[in-house]
This record gives sequence, structure tokens and C-alpha cells, in this order.
Amino acid sequence: MKKTEGYRTVSIDEARIDEFFEVDQWAFVGEWLPEDRQDYVDAIPLDGMRAVEVTEPARGFVGDLGGVYAAFSTEMITPGARRVPTSGLSWLGVHPSHRRRGIMSTMVRDHFERCIDQGLHVSVLYAMESEIYARFGYGLGSQTVRAEIPRGARMWPVEGADDLTVRLERADFAKHDQLVADLQAKLTRPGTVINPVGSGRNARFTDPVGNRKGMEKWRLLIVEDQGEPVGYAFFRRKADSSVGIHDGVAQVAEHGALTPAASQAMWKVLTDFDLVETTRTANLAIDDPLVHQLKDARGARSRVIDNIWVRLLDVPRALECRAYFHDIDLTIALTDRHVPANAKTWRIVITGEDAQVTEAPQGTSPDLAMDTRHLASLYLGGTSAESLHAAGLIAEHTDGAARQLAVAMFSPVAPLANWDF
Ligand SMILES: CC(C)(COP(=O)(O)OP(=O)(O)OC[C@H]1O[C@@H](n2cnc3c(N)ncnc32)[C@H](O)[C@@H]1OP(=O)(O)O)[C@@H](O)C(=O)NCCC(=O)NCCS
Repeated sequence: MKKTEGYRTVSIDEARIDEFFEVDQWAFVGEWLPEDRQDYVDAIPLDGMRAVEVTEPARGFVGDLGGVYAAFSTEMITPGARRVPTSGLSWLGVHPSHRRRGIMSTMVRDHFERCIDQGLHVSVLYAMESEIYARFGYGLGSQTVRAEIPRGARMWPVEGADDLTVRLERADFAKHDQLVADLQAKLTRPGTVINPVGSGRNARFTDPVGNRKGMEKWRLLIVEDQGEPVGYAFFRRKADSSVGIHDGVAQVAEHGALTPAASQAMWKVLTDFDLVETTRTANLAIDDPLVHQLKDARGARSRVIDNIWVRLLDVPRALECRAYFHDIDLTIALTDRHVPANAKTWRIVITGEDAQVTEAPQGTSPDLAMDTRHLASLYLGGTSAESLHAAGLIAEHTDGAARQLAVAMFSPVAPLANWDF
């Protein structure tokens, strides 16, 4: 029997959701609390659940699930505040009894086929381990700063910040879902993955007890400018006090601000809670306004890590769904192991921010050559083509072509996905 035989790919409906969750508990190493079940049901995209099931007794009990994943359809903001039809891939796990038999590979290919059928040009994900997904053509799309900001961090003043109102409330789906969705939809930072509203997934409000680690339930901060919401942040705190020493922490998850003043008003509150010495966040773009507003950025003890990974499934259509910042006319020879339709030489003509991408005539000698995952890394504008060329990952056959592509594709604003999925 070949390594991948004895399984088939199936859709999972709500009736089999506990089997699905069981595989993820094995894969992600953890026992979920029974009282958290509904939170997980609320968070998962019910119409996007897929699994690989045993069909041969030699593999285990026939009908058992060996691996699972779920995907949701949405849009992602691209450079120039445009949007691309996107799928978010999540919950992907393989039961330890079935590892290294090609189940993940089968599921990723299944995901690609379904996205292409649905006209979703890009797939994005967060990786548990950063090495896993490059083999499938995912490139590092954006990076994030993990910061630990000390209480009362001083900031360069921003005009108007003190005139805004900040409200702190318990996060409540019924009350806040639309408000947060409306604010997120106004963000322009590339990499922002729109959190689908009303599709059964409202992951931003899920709050399993098992994930809280002694912290309070999610709170929501809302910044208002004369009654108009202009910023939001999900946060929670945990006190840790003994004999007069307060060592509490606050954790900030998804957040967004529409103006510099809103950003400052928000972070002033988030970094000045009584009994809280440190405010932690993992969702900060490398050029977030806070990074520039802090007087002592070094004091924020930061570390840069990977944020989302991007996979271009329909290269020409995906490239046409973003803006560019320099006119070019270049050809790129692309390799793509998993989506052969992308493995061609493409001519990219950019005029006035818009790209037209067509297949180059047979025999064209390309200006640049690269694998699809490197083009994916350039897509949101957070990585420069010239730096990938300098790293030996992009081949340049025409002098200066990597620099031209770098200037055209590099985003004036660093990309970031501002919520975890
Ligand atoms: C990571 C995981 C999904 C792999 O599943 P799998 O079915 O064993 O993977 P496959 O057999 O399809 O392996 C595909 C390739 O990836 C490689 N690979 C698998 N896991 C890897 C890892 N953790 N790091 C690096 N490479 C890995 C395999 O060696 C194989 O390489 P090959 O094609 O050169 O032979 C599985 O081990 C798992 O569920 N882990 C825990 C949960 C997790 O990390 N999920 C990913 C969520 S983002």
C-alpha cells in the first residue's frame, strides 16, 4: 500500500463536529474544557470543514478521521487599499497516529482546488511552525512585532488625542459585532483579513476558558470622536499582587485605529491600567503608529515574528488585485509545484498603479525567475524583491529588474493581519 492510500477526503457537517475537534485536540496537544465546546463551534466556519477519513482497516478504524482543516471565504486588503478574494485556512491538524502519510499534503491540495473553484485568488494562514508551509508555495506575507510595553510609557503627543473619548466595555457579540466589523472594514493596511460577519464565524468574540490562563474575559476598548467610533481594541487583564508589589499584565489582541489621534488615545489607556505593570501585544505592524509615538521604543522590549503566510492561487488575477507604485514592464518565469497553471512566464505591465498580467509568448527570455512562494512574499509589499535577490532566492537575468520590481511592489505601509485565525 502506498503511503497515502487507504484514505479519502470528505466534507464535515455539524453532526461530526466532535470528531473534527477530537483530531485537533490530538494535533494541537491539549484537552479542551467541555464548557468551551460552544465557543469552538461558534468560531469554526461550518461550511468550510473538511477531513481525511480512513477507508482501509490497515490504516485504523474505517470512518475515523486522520486529519482535518477548515477554511473561510473573505477578502484581504492589498497595497493601495484594494481587496482580493481570499480564503483563510485554519484548524489544520493531523492525528499523531496518521502523521507523515501525506495527509496534510492531501488536505492542502484539496484546499487549493476548492479555492480555485470558488474564485478565491489567495490563501492565507498563520503557521504553528514557520517551516511547514513554504513547500506548498506559501511565502511570508507579513511580520508582526511582539511587544511588552511598560506601564505609563511616554509618547510624543499627537494633536487631538486628548479630545477623544475612550469607552471600556465587556466584549459582547450582540452589541459590538457590527461596530467592530464596520471599523475593521475602514482599515487600509495591507494584510488586513476581513473577519466575515454573520457566516457562523465570529472568532474575535470567542473566549474559551481554557485559553484565558487566569485572565479576565475579553474586554473591548472603543475610541470615539464626538460619538463616531474611530478605534477599537480587544484586551484583557490579570492582576498579580503580593505585599504591595503589583505585577499584573494586560494582553491586547485585535485592534485598529482610523487616525493617529485614535491610536494614541487607545494606547494611552491600554498602557495605564491600575495594578498592571506590562501590556503585551502580538498584533503590531512593524510601522504601527505606536512604534513611532513611543518615546522609548526600545523600552517596549519587542521581537519581530512571522504574521501571515500567503499563497497565490491565481497569479495573474491576484497580482491585478493590488496597486503598485512604479511603472514597469517585466517578465517573470515562475515555478509552482502545486498549481501548474501558475508555472509560466508572466509579463507584468504596470501603468499608473494598475497591473496587467498576461502570459508571455513562448520563447521569451525572462527578466527575473523565482518560485511562487517568493512572489507570494512580495505580494503584500512587506518584502523587497531586491532583498530576496540579495538573499539568492530570486534570479535576475536583466540588470536592475529586481530593483524595479521592488520599487513597484513595496508597500509604503507595512502589511499586517490584525486578528488571529
Ligand atoms: C504539521 C502536520 C499538519 C503535518 O501533517 P502530516 O500529514 O504528517 O504531513 P505530510 O505527511 O503531508 O507531510 C508533508 C511534508 O511536510 C513535512 N513536514 C510535516 N510536518 C512538518 C513540520 N512540523 N516541520 C517541517 N516539515 C514538516 C513532511 O516531512 C513532508 O515532507 P516531504 O513532502 O518532503 O516528505 C501534523 O504533524 C500536525 O498536525 N502537527 C500538529 C499541528 C500543526 O502543527 N498543524 C499545522 C497548523 S498551522
